[in-house]
Amino acid sequence: MRRVSLLVFWLGCLVPSSEGVNPGFAGRITRKGLDYACQEGVATLRKDLPAIILPEFSGTYRVKIIGNVNYRFYRLNFRRFELFHSTIEPMPGQGLRVSISNALAEMTGHWELKKRWLKDDGSFELKVDGISISVGLKLGSDATGRPTVTTLDCNTHISNVDIDISGKWEWLYNLFETKVESAFKTVMESKICEIVRTSINSKLQPHLQSLPVTANIDHTSNIDYSLVGPPVATSDCVDLDLKGEFFSTGHRSPAPFPPPPLSFPVDHDRMVQFGISTYFFNTAGDVYYKAESLTFWVVDEMVPQEIKIRLNTSSFQPFIPQLKKLYHNMPMKLKVSPSSAPSLSITPETLSLTPSVDIQAFAILPNSFLAPLFLIGVTSPVSAKVAVNSTRIFGNLKLGRLKFSLKHSDVGFFSVQVLESLINFLTASILIPQMNARLAEGFPLPLLDHLELSNPILQAHQDFLVFASDVRYG
Ligand SMILES: *[C@@H]1O[C@H](CO)[C@@H](O)[C@H](O)[C@H]1NC(C)=O
Ligand SMILES: *[C@@H]1O[C@H](CO)[C@@H](O)[C@H](O)[C@H]1NC(C)=O
Repeated sequence: MRRVSLLVFWLGCLVPSSEGVNPGFAGRITRKGLDYACQEGVATLRKDLPAIILPEFSGTYRVKIIGNVNYRFYRLNFRRFELFHSTIEPMPGQGLRVSISNALAEMTGHWELKKRWLKDDGSFELKVDGISISVGLKLGSDATGRPTVTTLDCNTHISNVDIDISGKWEWLYNLFETKVESAFKTVMESKICEIVRTSINSKLQPHLQSLPVTANIDHTSNIDYSLVGPPVATSDCVDLDLKGEFFSTGHRSPAPFPPPPLSFPVDHDRMVQFGISTYFFNTAGDVYYKAESLTFWVVDEMVPQEIKIRLNTSSFQPFIPQLKKLYHNMPMKLKVSPSSAPSLSITPETLSLTPSVDIQAFAILPNSFLAPLFLIGVTSPVSAKVAVNSTRIFGNLKLGRLKFSLKHSDVGFFSVQVLESLINFLTASILIPQMNARLAEGFPLPLLDHLELSNPILQAHQDFLVFASDVRYG
């Protein structure tokens, strides 16, 4: 299972496809990453191998004088397995090549021999060295956006097989040990590739087919991280382009803007790289905006106690004198909602946002009904910081000076300038901390279990961020 997950990890973090659709999220595994995956794969193989049950094999030999002898070798167990050299390398345009060379295996087992009048059985020791295996894997994607793996080719070569049979008539077995050895060599050479093909077709492939391609974030949104095209192998890396699109839990509709191009240079010093497009963030903004999830209420209780100015009509009387007559000394409530979906731009210098927000003020009447007072439109430049830890992506917002316009008033005209500084103050002390609290919780990265990141780096490019890191599988 661990081996399968590991394979999925390197398939799962694999970027630019030429299929026309730009990704919202891209993953790359560099040569350094492939080397690491290989090292982990070997460790896993070494651990799992003793549990592998090898197939038995039988046949007939013609021995001088004696004639035909039927034999059977069974209950084969690994006693030792050494992998001196193995590699996983990208095969440009195709996929990956997994190679093992000069491996050594020692096995024990039982044997049985039959010849009409002769029947014997016993144990044997088998030493196989100079084992070389080379498997070409073609990486693709299916209609659902899941990765596919097929075996392109498989070659095995064994240099030497040495068998030591013990039994009553050792002198007899010595007569055909060489024959058994060469038969073993032939059988093993073909069996290894058969086992490799079977494992890929009946274990890895179905596992990939069962991988989720969407992740639920909360009651409002999901992320689609299906592949937008087949994985692309170059001489330096293997790239995976994922959709990286937020969509509504209730009803999915196409994003109202296309993803921008996303491609970035290979970071040879790190195992994996992730490209995160403005598309990823802006589809999130669109979904939350349309779901009205970005709307919230500000009430007096939310104003920290140390602040002397309370959210009530008395506080507003100095700049809206009409309030004294209409709604004297009543608590107030503010409804804050964006008037358009927030749209993030990323340049190598900065991440910026210019949201426009509507603030509707209400007086809370003694019967707890809400009386609308006025509607103010607010715009403000916001700069954003984005951070990533091993599992999640986080945000933090900084607000520029708020600009006000009176969109509607139920209490007569008044000058918004006077209000500006007060609202500026309330926004900085309430709105921004609340938004930052949500953004600080973060959104999960499409990473698999048991992965740890180290040596991470985050860089801004035109229209996307690139996160590069080393990974540890544990
Ligand atoms: C309204 O706010 C002012 C301070 O701005 C405060 O002195 C007053 O007690 C508040 N009134 C009510 C009813 O809370
Ligand atoms: C990443 O951040 C989340 C949320 O703050 C936290 O739960 C998690 O432990 C962090 N992971 C690491 C490895 O720091």
